[in-house]
Amino acid sequence: MDSENRLEKLLSASSILHDSLELSVLLKRIMELLSDSMASEKGAIYLIDTETGEFALGMAAGAEGALRIEKRAGAAQAAGAGVPVLIEDATKDPRWKEEGSNAKSVLCVPLKYGDRILGLAEVVNKIDGTPYTNEDLKFFQGLTNICAAAILNSTKFTALELENRRLKSEVSPAIPLIGNAPSMIKIFSQIKKAAATDALVLVTGESGTGKEVVAKSLHMLSSRNKHPFLPVNCGALPETLLESELFGHEKGAFTGADKARAGIFEEANGGTVFLDEIGETTPATQVKLLRVLQEGKVKRLGSNKEIPFNARIIAATNRSLETMVEEKKIREDLYYRLNVLRILLPPLRKRREDIPVLADYFLKKATSKLGRSIEGFSSAVFRTFADYPWKGNVRELENAVEASVAMADGPYIEITDLPESFQDYKPSGFDGASLSGMNYKDASDLFEKSYFKSLLELTNGDTSLAAEKAGVSEKSVQRRKSEFGL
Ligand SMILES: Nc1ncnc2c1ncn2[C@@H]1O[C@H](COP(=O)(O)OP(=O)(O)OP(=O)(O)O)[C@@H](O)[C@H]1O
Ligand SMILES: [Mg+2]
Repeated sequence: MDSENRLEKLLSASSILHDSLELSVLLKRIMELLSDSMASEKGAIYLIDTETGEFALGMAAGAEGALRIEKRAGAAQAAGAGVPVLIEDATKDPRWKEEGSNAKSVLCVPLKYGDRILGLAEVVNKIDGTPYTNEDLKFFQGLTNICAAAILNSTKFTALELENRRLKSEVSPAIPLIGNAPSMIKIFSQIKKAAATDALVLVTGESGTGKEVVAKSLHMLSSRNKHPFLPVNCGALPETLLESELFGHEKGAFTGADKARAGIFEEANGGTVFLDEIGETTPATQVKLLRVLQEGKVKRLGSNKEIPFNARIIAATNRSLETMVEEKKIREDLYYRLNVLRILLPPLRKRREDIPVLADYFLKKATSKLGRSIEGFSSAVFRTFADYPWKGNVRELENAVEASVAMADGPYIEITDLPESFQDYKPSGFDGASLSGMNYKDASDLFEKSYFKSLLELTNGDTSLAAEKAGVSEKSVQRRKSEFGL
């Protein structure tokens, strides 16, 4: 790359790096930038974990990106001590001891901000096969210096955000909303935006995807966070009791109403009312609810007096409201009233990159609750988790981790510690040995089914996009879709 081109890269680096404060997004961008600028096959960024002082993988690019840092002790140590390292031929260099690696030429430099070392960055093998040079090393260090400043900014910002969350959670303990998947990052921003308004929000998504957590986070981020968050499960109560819970009642309004009682809209008193399973309400309750939402006033059961209330409303459902409108189970006018700001939570199987972070989070939670010390999951467990269908979404993952913590007696959670559904589960991974037991047609069907299933999941069922990604005609995607019932 000529010097003009390099200058351009440096300039573009400072602009892309400074518009992202979210650490995971930033690291991804840095990795892209480094791989692109250094024309490398592979690369990785390691950050120093401030608690343990050790390097932890921050981001990797290329097939073997996540190689173990301890195995390449020499290069890492030098860079960790602040010395940039150029390895021209890794096969002969004692500083590089990575068995089974096809590394040839390596650059490994500290991520430095002033005197402070935040971590290290490395790129492995130039795409054109030539070794990296001293010139490359200088340029790489210059580039990573810019990156280090952006990383520091972002970690400060993240720490501040965490601190804010901690302070807020002291007011009312909220469950943190975990996730790095692009779809979740979009949801965080939707939550932030919605929290700044007082508009009604409808949260939809399959069971266990985190609708209640989203509703709570929204409340905690809003200016109403000093006031109560009051959930009502509209599916759990018979009509009269639900209405009394929502709107309150006067003494004698129905059998058993021996005292007057305020409903949840009144009780919220500046807070948030969370109408969970809104799709389960009866038509009569829906009419009343619609009036309440439109007028901001409630009538207690057995009274004609209209009482104004001050509550933000969040509703949730795991059913398709559109289908319910078609089936006349939800009034159309209520549907339009609810469907203003919508947050749609994707199922866990469509954001599999969140599984490891969620699993770790639930592991920490369960070990501290049960007073156990378990270091992590075996790689077989992670492989199974990565492939498992997760019909019960995040809740299923949380339950599985908690159950396995109770079962485990080693330092790592093993497959045998997991609940039964995982014992019988066969990941759809293929290898020659397992496939060679089948005839060719069955083996290729198995592969095609799995391939097109993942592809269609990735493209949300869009056959034309799936065809484009696979490099085949849309017709052939459609054929597999119907053949395999995808
Ligand atoms: N992103 C997340 N980060 C941390 N915990 C989560 C997340 N999503 C879900 N959970 C946890 O998973 C469990 C299920 O979440 P939640 O109750 O919010 O799901 P839901 O969508 O309301 O499900 P349902 O439709 O069955 O009521 C809870 O224990 C919640 O704390
Ligand atoms: Mg729920």
